[in-house]
Amino acid sequence: MDVKFAPVLANANNFPVATIRATPAFCLTDFRQLKQSTDFSHCIYTRNGRAAIGLAAQQLMHSDQPNIVLLPAYHCPALVEPFLWLGYEVRFYPVLSDLSVDEVIFGQFLTKDVSHCLLVSFFGFQQNSKQLITLAAQAGKIVIEDCAHGLVDFLQQLDQPDPAVAARICSINKILPTIEGGLLYLQQPIKIKPKYCSWLEEAKGLAFLLKVPQFIHSLKSKKTPSNLSEKQPQAVASQFKYFNPEDLSSASFRHTKMILQASNFAKIKTKRLANYNYLASGLAEVSAGHCLYVAAGTEAPYVLPFLLNDANDFQRLRMQKIQVLRWEEVAYSQCKVSNDYRSRLIQLPCHHKLKQTELDYIINAMRNLVSH
Ligand SMILES: Cc1ncc(COP(=O)(O)O)c(C=O)c1O
Repeated sequence: MDVKFAPVLANANNFPVATIRATPAFCLTDFRQLKQSTDFSHCIYTRNGRAAIGLAAQQLMHSDQPNIVLLPAYHCPALVEPFLWLGYEVRFYPVLSDLSVDEVIFGQFLTKDVSHCLLVSFFGFQQNSKQLITLAAQAGKIVIEDCAHGLVDFLQQLDQPDPAVAARICSINKILPTIEGGLLYLQQPIKIKPKYCSWLEEAKGLAFLLKVPQFIHSLKSKKTPSNLSEKQPQAVASQFKYFNPEDLSSASFRHTKMILQASNFAKIKTKRLANYNYLASGLAEVSAGHCLYVAAGTEAPYVLPFLLNDANDFQRLRMQKIQVLRWEEVAYSQCKVSNDYRSRLIQLPCHHKLKQTELDYIINAMRNLVSH
């Protein structure tokens, strides 16, 4: 199947720099060393979540039969591109309005020729991904679990890996204040482990985390560097928009690993759950739309998914300097929900460093949308 992604809907350059960011900002106390109970020894450090997917997909490829993977129709392209690069045939299974998957329809997608299957827990909510994993494993498929949004859950499960899952991946910088980083758990030993970058690259990455280049740039141009913060160091042109094959060979930065190992996950989880629930109750009565999940689940949430009635409210929120996100570039498929959600489902920040005033600012901005 030829995969084509829908075009972007909104141009980030038209928005002012966000003051309420989707992910937490770094401060030096994030390096504070705690006695860490998490055992990271089974994790492979990767440049990002997409490189972890690429490594898993590469390692688990068949050499003597076609590689056909099932992916959720609702996604960001970074999840799809590694498979395209490796030459997999990609098929999309539809999602329901709560982002769970109809198990009967999913079963129909598990045809004999399908070799692999990727399941996502969207935004840190499990939906019915565990049941889907069981179905896919029973059908003899190679299962990859994408926990890109659920770092805390990913780490918790390292102690009791599910034998039905061949690989699990997650993203570090969606939850922690790092500029990159991913983790990969593989059931089988990895053939080639990603290597740490040179100390010069490490220093550049650290300077970027500390916002040194952004500061110099702002002095030079007297303009706020709106796009610098989105840039990854070492970015190399690739035929893919989001996936850089060179990332497969690099581990995360050493300082990313240090921040990960110094993090207090219990505290992060408690704060994110509390922020989510505070926002969700503040948004319960807004007329602009509704929260996809009225309360946090058992996992630490990444963002709060909110379904707008009017897709143009996305721009209105960005103009108020709130970094709401949206997956606009979903690949074309038969899935009606994904085609609709690319414009209407937004992701509101609920990270653990948000202050009370910021949470209230988000709630007020959402309440004010009614006037349009
Ligand atoms: C579900 C999912 N998987 C994988 C990725 C890729 O993760 P990363 O941005 O760390 O490469 C993303 C990125 O947004 C994602 O949303």
